[in-house]
Amino acid sequence: MRKYLEIAEEKLELLRNRDDYYILSIESSCDETAVAVVQGRNMISSVISSQIEIHKRFGGVVPEIASRNHVLAIDNLVDEALEKANLSLNDISAIAVTYGAGLLGALLVGVSYAKALAFSLKIPLIGVDHIKGHVCANFLAHKELNPPFICLLVSGGHTEILEVKGYREMKVLGETQDDAVGEAFDKVARVLGLPYPGGPQIEECAKLGENVIPMPKVFKGEKHLNFSYSGIKTAVVNYVHNSKAKNVEINKHDVACSFQTTAVNMLIKNSIIACKNYGYKTIAVAGGVGANSFLRETLTEECKKIGIEVLLPPKYLCTDNAVMIGIGGFYAIKEGVKCSDVSLDANPNL
Ligand code: KG4
Ligand code: ZN
Repeated sequence: MRKYLEIAEEKLELLRNRDDYYILSIESSCDETAVAVVQGRNMISSVISSQIEIHKRFGGVVPEIASRNHVLAIDNLVDEALEKANLSLNDISAIAVTYGAGLLGALLVGVSYAKALAFSLKIPLIGVDHIKGHVCANFLAHKELNPPFICLLVSGGHTEILEVKGYREMKVLGETQDDAVGEAFDKVARVLGLPYPGGPQIEECAKLGENVIPMPKVFKGEKHLNFSYSGIKTAVVNYVHNSKAKNVEINKHDVACSFQTTAVNMLIKNSIIACKNYGYKTIAVAGGVGANSFLRETLTEECKKIGIEVLLPPKYLCTDNAVMIGIGGFYAIKEGVKCSDVSLDANPNL
């Protein structure tokens, strides 16, 4: 009997120049179990089982609980994604799966499931980098978009300015030196007593506030494109704790608004400098914090003034989903990536 890899690689070669076949994609890197079917850079179906309600009571994601819930959800989600696409497993030509970065146990659920499925169907398996996947959400949302362009990638684990040179070739121009911006939103929300995940809560809370609380100056000139979020995060934590110690009531709305304004302004400044320094006229946004309306509106406004086009994926494509992983898989196949064999491993620090 011929080996899996031999058969899968043969099939993979036949897919390279096509865009009419179906990829089933799986994402389980954190607290969303997600499955999608894509065809080329188009979404055929997408389903997500969010664990937010489960982790809320702990104030953040508990890795062990996340893994267990991925196990419970994944099989039904695959059925659901296929049903919505009006397809069966026999119609699927390849499997794409997130293999990093993320929580090890959570990633392993998706990777193991994808391996078993690809092996049993004898079809190619493609491991996809979660971060590159986030960027790929833009290829779905903006059908005319092709590299090169600048991407502002802002999530719970990453804050980066990327020069997207190709569908899979991305150069980091600037990145956070400490916390990710999403992490800072979550932490500030927590200290204000707002539930997990903090980003959308801060956004809502800030709507009723003003930018009146002084925040540390975190932007360090135009020479580099790096970020730092631990300074503002700590400033907010200290402000809240000191106020409590002095029995001074704080205005949550003002704290949320001041934090959000400072955090977002740093993203905008660096994005604009990146475009200017590297000669780009297009900036795409990716990652969960990209769902933030204040960021979306202010970035668009500021860039419009200087003739830079801002591309925003719809909010549901900013946060974790499997469609972006499917599209990442599609371009990996197109660009000649080798089939990930059954030794594909989860890599939390990819
Ligand atoms: O991309 P994502 O879903 O998962 C990671 O790969 O990390 O991003 C999650 C992060 C969380 O920190 C969450 O609080 C933040 O994105 N987020 C937001 C908003 N929606 C999600 N941050 C600010 N404003 C939002 N509306
Ligand atoms: Zn993500």
